Amino acid sequence: MSQSKAPILSVEGLSVSFPMPRSGIFGERQYLKAVRDISFDVPAGKTLGIVGESGSGKTTAAMATIRLTEAQAGVVEFNGTDLFKLSSEEMRQQRQHMQVIFQDPYSSLNPRDRVGAIVREPLDLMNVGDPKGRDARVAELFELVGLRPDQMALFPHQFSGGQRQRISIARALATNPALIVCDEPVSALDVAIQAQILNLLRKLQEELGLSYLFISHDLGVVQFICDEIAVMYLGEIVEQASRMDLFSKPQHPYTKALLETAPSLARRKSAGYRREALVEGDPPSPLNIPKGCAFAGRCPKATEKCLNERPELTFDGNRSVACHFPND
Ligand SMILES: Nc1ncnc2c1ncn2[C@@H]1O[C@H](COP(=O)(O)OP(=O)(O)OP(=O)(O)O)[C@@H](O)[C@H]1O
Ligand SMILES: [Mg+2]
Repeated sequence: MSQSKAPILSVEGLSVSFPMPRSGIFGERQYLKAVRDISFDVPAGKTLGIVGESGSGKTTAAMATIRLTEAQAGVVEFNGTDLFKLSSEEMRQQRQHMQVIFQDPYSSLNPRDRVGAIVREPLDLMNVGDPKGRDARVAELFELVGLRPDQMALFPHQFSGGQRQRISIARALATNPALIVCDEPVSALDVAIQAQILNLLRKLQEELGLSYLFISHDLGVVQFICDEIAVMYLGEIVEQASRMDLFSKPQHPYTKALLETAPSLARRKSAGYRREALVEGDPPSPLNIPKGCAFAGRCPKATEKCLNERPELTFDGNRSVACHFPND
């Protein structure tokens, strides 16, 4: 959209499919199309959110972008470097500039390691500085994420879920990355703790100039932290806009449906709140992509045209939307 600075990450035409096991010797091999020809930018120092239901391809898209999953097509430029052209050693070197925070702070930390060693590991792997300097750096990282340096000697089970996510964040920050992929970083946490971690991420972004590619199925979370938002549906981006535009004037019927069923973070803290299903019905199978609009089967506005013609993602000068009948 209207960014003055060059994006830190620019993704063009990314596609990822997974081969399925053959059914019998003569069976044709099927491919699961998890990500279909998507393009997006992460502006430097900002947050791009990717939202969508479970299975829409958010994780696959993000992991393919940083080459943790293999893509079949696409060009990814990170800080001006074409990532898909790098050798594995060159890619290894680049990894210090891009880190990942995962959803589950329980399984992503090795229970047998002291948390100081866990945070220090990326520094050891990348051979950053001398060993003494690394310890000082780890202590500094603990303070940066709101932990005490004397907690470095403890084990993961001695921390709460929110504290463990702080440890994951400290570890991700160790090599001074420019980009952090956050894959549902607060989904496993209690609602009250979610806000603390999101605030920490915002503070770190401001202080360190970080850029985030932020994945969530939760629009309340996305509204809190993202500058730009891409909505994914069955492997495609169906709408992309600034936070303001997306939340105030959603154009795609799927975005509208998501917004209508997503309560704000504040309301969720009230007693008795239960998370409901996002949108009624199920998306089509990614093994059998419909020929028209992928959302047509669940869309209240779908016509014959929607069932037969795939709507292209089109930029209207302000936002991109893939719908034959955007909000009118
Ligand atoms: N390694 C794999 N092999 C085969 N299929 C996969 C693999 N990883 C993901 N998929 C499929 O690709 C599609 C997209 O999955 P992905 O995990 O990217 O979705 P997601 O949007 O991150 O969902 P969630 O919100 O549940 O994390 C799904 O249909 C999933 O089953
Ligand atoms: Mg995922």
